Amino acid sequence: MKPEQVRDWVRAARRIVVLSGAGMSAESGVPTFRDAQTGLWAKFRPEELATEEAFRARPEMVWDWYAERRAAVAKVEPNAGHRAIAAFQQRHPGRLTVVTQNVDGLHQRAGSPGVLALHGSITQDQWLDAPRTCCNSADPQAGRPPRCAACGNLRRPAVVWFGEMLPAHELAAAQAAAAGCDLMLVVGTSGAVYPAAGLARATQGRVVVLNPRASDLDDAADAVLRGTAAVLLPLLLQD
Ligand code: APR
Repeated sequence: MKPEQVRDWVRAARRIVVLSGAGMSAESGVPTFRDAQTGLWAKFRPEELATEEAFRARPEMVWDWYAERRAAVAKVEPNAGHRAIAAFQQRHPGRLTVVTQNVDGLHQRAGSPGVLALHGSITQDQWLDAPRTCCNSADPQAGRPPRCAACGNLRRPAVVWFGEMLPAHELAAAQAAAAGCDLMLVVGTSGAVYPAAGLARATQGRVVVLNPRASDLDDAADAVLRGTAAVLLPLLLQD
């Protein structure tokens, strides 16, 4: 399948969903999770960093790891793939919905409206335990992590950790978008994590995988384009 043939599918599609994963941001310099040498999970164990238990056991270490990733993301820019999506949305309002597993905020920074961020945001934080009145009465006390000066409630990254529920609104909206689209571009995801990956199996639309390497969603695809996000998306989304 050639990109030109998929571009014809894009032109014919009334409703498009882009389902993106960490590979979407690789060309911006953000490490992925499962790429053999460079992936984050090649260096760190997810259970040690990306779970509530890990945070409760070692809040400072987990806070510092997210602070480091937050600082790294602040230094990078959206790439040509993010920009091509946002430009398409600008030209064709309401026709393309971005559903992302990424927490880096790069789709939003490229100008994409209404991004459905299934795994939260690394640039925000939230209370670890349900906030008491004291928690929101003053700014959290500075620290690693910051905490409520009155009751000690901790701030935590506003990302979805392993074993946690996805935000109900975003997931429901993503499921509706997947059900109603006639084309889904699955960009830069290994397809290893559900329910996000399940959207590519549940859609009625044609599925096109954009990935330089094989992924767990290739078998669900009507077409697979072996290439990168920043090269393929500008090709596919040009009018
Ligand atoms: N363009 C497109 N795809 C790329 C690029 C690129 N430039 N570089 C790498 N990829 C592909 C890899 O081949 C891989 O299939 O991106 C994919 C990244 O896969 P993962 O690292 O598993 O990332 P992702 O699929 O987003 O992980 C899903 O797992 O750890 C959790 O919550 C985390 O949201 C994450 C979820």
